[in-house]
Amino acid sequence: MKSKHYLHGGDLDRVSEMYHIDKDTIWDFSGNINPLGISPKAKEALKKNIDLIATYPDRNYTSLKQTIGAYCHINASHVIVGNGSTELISIVINAVKPQNALVLGPTYSEYEREIALNGGLCHYYALKEQSEFILDIENFMNELKKDYDMLIVCNPNNPTGTGITLDILTLIISAAQKLDIFAMIDETYIEFCDDPSAYSAVSLAKDFDHLLVIRGVSKFFSSPGLRFGYCICSNQGLIASTQKLQNPWSINSLAAFAAEIMFTDKAYIEHTHSLMASERTRILHALSATPSIHVFKPVANFVLLKILNPSISSDYVLNALIKDGLLIRDASSFPFLDDRFIRFCFLKPNQNDVLLSKLKDLLTQKN
Ligand SMILES: Cc1ncc(COP(=O)(O)O)c(C=O)c1O
Repeated sequence: MKSKHYLHGGDLDRVSEMYHIDKDTIWDFSGNINPLGISPKAKEALKKNIDLIATYPDRNYTSLKQTIGAYCHINASHVIVGNGSTELISIVINAVKPQNALVLGPTYSEYEREIALNGGLCHYYALKEQSEFILDIENFMNELKKDYDMLIVCNPNNPTGTGITLDILTLIISAAQKLDIFAMIDETYIEFCDDPSAYSAVSLAKDFDHLLVIRGVSKFFSSPGLRFGYCICSNQGLIASTQKLQNPWSINSLAAFAAEIMFTDKAYIEHTHSLMASERTRILHALSATPSIHVFKPVANFVLLKILNPSISSDYVLNALIKDGLLIRDASSFPFLDDRFIRFCFLKPNQNDVLLSKLKDLLTQKN
């Protein structure tokens, strides 16, 4: 069965329908979501405050923005909140209306879709496989001088798992500012990094009004169903034009309430952080002893692999693993990747062990 044209990460309903598997039995290595589930503190508070549904949320989300300000160490007036980072990606691109956007790829497909929907052209700057998908900054700076009006960077990048450090980001954002290019950095996966502050552009937002950073709670806080995301930006003109495009009460009362609590659940944040760091090290070590694959070294909670055995395709691996209820991402639908590439995220240690062992069996069987 061909899967690549249909399956996106975490699409459990579709997978369950296609493969006739009960969705609750699937271990989802494709959605890049924290395996610990939602913050226990937020869960308890939600249970006790279910009656919030009977009230409208604060239209300005003042308290929520203050909590995010404290979480990100920035001024609350620089925060925009939205219905998932997807809504924010959409309204920011709609507000900027780029004619010629430069996007670092391979990457998440939503940027290209939104640019096209708004009548712009999406030009990819290709990260090179030969360079392990790590940005060649000199070459990139020359490209940036061409006639672009928006730059989009996903950092850490989905699906390559690679990250751009703050020193390099500072060069890029300063150059973009001088060239009057608006830079949008999607930091959906930033909290999974060992040291998020070494990769995050948030601290630059107060000094560069051509910068906007997007973040969410779907992945690190395991809350994709909540539909909550936020932006950090010091450009009050852009904040105003973005918010004009947003429906009032775009974040529901429960989501606004729960989001605020999760940012303060220090024990959960710390637990997630240390689990992901130790699993990343352990998994990379195990993969280094797995035959017929090339591993692109990740900085976040998922890894991109290239299958080196020409008789094994990404589709074959996906179909073989799903029979055991293990769902990985066939990465062949991303620009510049083909049917040799797969991606999977890190779940709990026992689950990761099962996946690693099945993957090893599959790759050695066909040798
Ligand atoms: C890089 C990236 N940005 C944004 C999103 C969408 O996140 P949200 O659930 O916050 O809309 C995803 C989802 O997979 C993603 O991978």
